[in-house]
Amino acid sequence: MQMGNIVFITGATSGFGRAAARRFAAAGWSLILTGRRLKRLQALQDELGGRVPVHVAALDVRDAAAVRQVVGELPEAFRQVRVLINNAGLALAPQAAQQVELADWHTMIDTNVTGLVNVTHALLPTLIATGAGASIVNLGSVAGQWPYPGSHVYGATKAFVQQFSYNLRCDLLGSGVRVTDIAPGMAETEFTLVRTKGDQVASERLYSGTTPLTAEDIAEQIFYVASLPAHININRLEVMPTRQAWLPFAVDRD
Ligand SMILES: NC(=O)c1ccc[n+]([C@@H]2O[C@H](COP(=O)([O-])OP(=O)(O)OC[C@H]3O[C@@H](n4cnc5c(N)ncnc54)[C@H](OP(=O)(O)O)[C@@H]3O)[C@@H](O)[C@H]2O)c1
Repeated sequence: MQMGNIVFITGATSGFGRAAARRFAAAGWSLILTGRRLKRLQALQDELGGRVPVHVAALDVRDAAAVRQVVGELPEAFRQVRVLINNAGLALAPQAAQQVELADWHTMIDTNVTGLVNVTHALLPTLIATGAGASIVNLGSVAGQWPYPGSHVYGATKAFVQQFSYNLRCDLLGSGVRVTDIAPGMAETEFTLVRTKGDQVASERLYSGTTPLTAEDIAEQIFYVASLPAHININRLEVMPTRQAWLPFAVDRD
């Protein structure tokens, strides 16, 4: 058990974030769990709190003032954060760009870009004070690198995550703080349920008859990059199911 290690997770109420909470708890880390759904955070605290210290805070990452407050009011035992997992995020509107609501684009930008920088900015001083071995693990996506129909703003927000991760590395050089962009492919979580605004059938159809990644698969990768020796930085980790690949270029013909 690694005493004194503290991880701050955004979007711990579901999917990768919740699986990461369980993975880090299994290794003895103290947990700061955030997300908008407090009941789910409390359920996770009930599940894991007997094994490791757990602090929960309801937080919408889009709200910069709330982010500053949650970070500023961390209890003494949770202040020296070693790992930030910027996981909170979502895709909306899988239709073609010309068919979607502008509000859905704004929600993705506000969450995946603005939210991620809100949390990063608030925790940078702490992570720099932690120094060698500290990590920021950002959840990007294959959509940040590879175009596909219906990805429009979602993919663009994840391209931001990749470039922001690389750029942070330049500025943090010498601080000991590592930065990683983890870019998963298809993974079965509540992601598609959110993307389709609650269409359970569409979600099940996407994942049926194949072998998607699981939340636990990605949690294992997050734990791996954050627990490597302090002199190793994984810059970007793109992970796909073996049963997922790319199609050829599309061509419009007469
Ligand atoms: N599943 C995939 O195929 C896949 C692939 C590549 C990348 N990703 C990325 O991986 C990350 C996690 O996704 P997931 O698959 O685990 O999806 P998920 O099961 O839907 O979980 C998303 C998490 O983000 C949180 N969240 C959303 N909006 C938020 C906000 N405004 N403030 C705070 N938390 C917010 C949700 O918590 P609350 O609703 O309780 O706030 C939830 O805990 C996302 O960034 C996603 O883009 C997913």
